[in-house]
Amino acid sequence: MVAAQLKMTATKAKATTLPQAAPEPELKTLVRSHGEQLSAQLQAHHRTIFPPEAEKTIRPFSPAESARLLGITEAYLRQVAAEEPAISPTIKNGRRSYSVEDLQRLRILLEQGARGGRRYLPHRTGDEHLQVITVMNFKGGSGKTTTAAHLAQYLALHGYRVLAIDLDPQASLSALFGHQPETHVGPDETLYGAIRYDDARRPIAEIVRGTYIPELHIVPGNLELMEFEHDTPKALMHRKAGDTLFFARIGQALAQAQNLYDVVVIDCPPQLGYLTMSALTAATAVLITIHPQMLDVMSMSQFLQMTGDLLEEVSNHGASTSYDWMKYLITRFEPGDGPQNQMVAFLRSIFGEHVLNHPMVKSTAISDAGLTNQTIFEVERGQFTRSTYDRAMESVNNVNSEIEAQIRKAWGRAA
Ligand SMILES: Nc1ncnc2c1ncn2[C@@H]1O[C@H](COP(=O)(O)OP(=O)(O)OP(=O)(O)O)[C@@H](O)[C@H]1O
Ligand SMILES: [Mg+2]
Repeated sequence: MVAAQLKMTATKAKATTLPQAAPEPELKTLVRSHGEQLSAQLQAHHRTIFPPEAEKTIRPFSPAESARLLGITEAYLRQVAAEEPAISPTIKNGRRSYSVEDLQRLRILLEQGARGGRRYLPHRTGDEHLQVITVMNFKGGSGKTTTAAHLAQYLALHGYRVLAIDLDPQASLSALFGHQPETHVGPDETLYGAIRYDDARRPIAEIVRGTYIPELHIVPGNLELMEFEHDTPKALMHRKAGDTLFFARIGQALAQAQNLYDVVVIDCPPQLGYLTMSALTAATAVLITIHPQMLDVMSMSQFLQMTGDLLEEVSNHGASTSYDWMKYLITRFEPGDGPQNQMVAFLRSIFGEHVLNHPMVKSTAISDAGLTNQTIFEVERGQFTRSTYDRAMESVNNVNSEIEAQIRKAWGRAA
């Protein structure tokens, strides 16, 4: 009976339906094929903006910028540079400029000739401890990667030895630094290689890569980092006495590189998984990026409560949750936007001095630089109207010098 009904329905359907288009492929086929097409197009795009054989470089710096980065006057810069044959400013259209390598040499020279306790090389000394700054928020697009990249470059250009770690499987930070996650980063070449649970684990020193800024190194990311999220529940189930639990694994890997750096900057994924918890446990400082809009702030309220609960859980299992400072950074701020100003005032009223004084303003100079995998330090000023570039640079410098002051305070130095 049922079979007969079905047959009748099928016949009716046949009579009334129009000729069918080709059937939709299965979801898995469709998704995989879209992924492959997108990947091919993106790789072609990257090849145009940054050919694989080309080393990513950073532009030279004008005397005014160089003097500011070194903390000296332009006249003194000219004098020191003229006395040292190894310093060779580029002269173009009558204008001098200095390479990052020149800046590093100049800083060493200045330090060697320094008098009266003045320091030009800001490296850690004595019992000043490694600063590990975790940039986080589980709201996607809150400006974590942009903040981490500019902070890492700002610090390195000011003479600190910096390690940037891309902990996001999406690997935007790596792409920004010229390491394409799909083509330039192989197995065990992300932090996963140094924190994995099995015997394939490698020392972090084997994974760290140099960048085009001498004092800045990077541990790139790619999808492989997801493995840590999958491995951890299994490792927890089969754990033996003496095993390092997930929350201590990043700290353990960083301890191996302890003496090589002054600051580690970790760009977290937009989720509160095992990777983020491990970064948080390793952190001596936490920077939470927040775009001042209602949906973002609501999402952050859940994020903070969840983070608090998870931190309590891991501290019950012996994790260290001590830290030097925790700050909120307002990102993509539009000074002329009334509701955003109200939201910033609201956040300041609740979090007080935990909110950094300077917000990072929204600027086309930052977003346009991002489109070609660059930061504001890398793009040429001439690509933008001067006021656009200068306003963005001023904001980046204000934000990062405030963070630098926190680092120095944690070391017991004067700001
Ligand atoms: N100050 C700014 N001015 C203009 N655009 C900005 C600024 N900061 C970030 N952006 C843009 O906003 C977008 C998101 O920023 P970003 O990738 O830094 O966020 P994220 O929190 O790392 O995102 P995800 O959660 O996906 O990792 C990017 O396109 C970036 O170029
Ligand atoms: Mg990001």
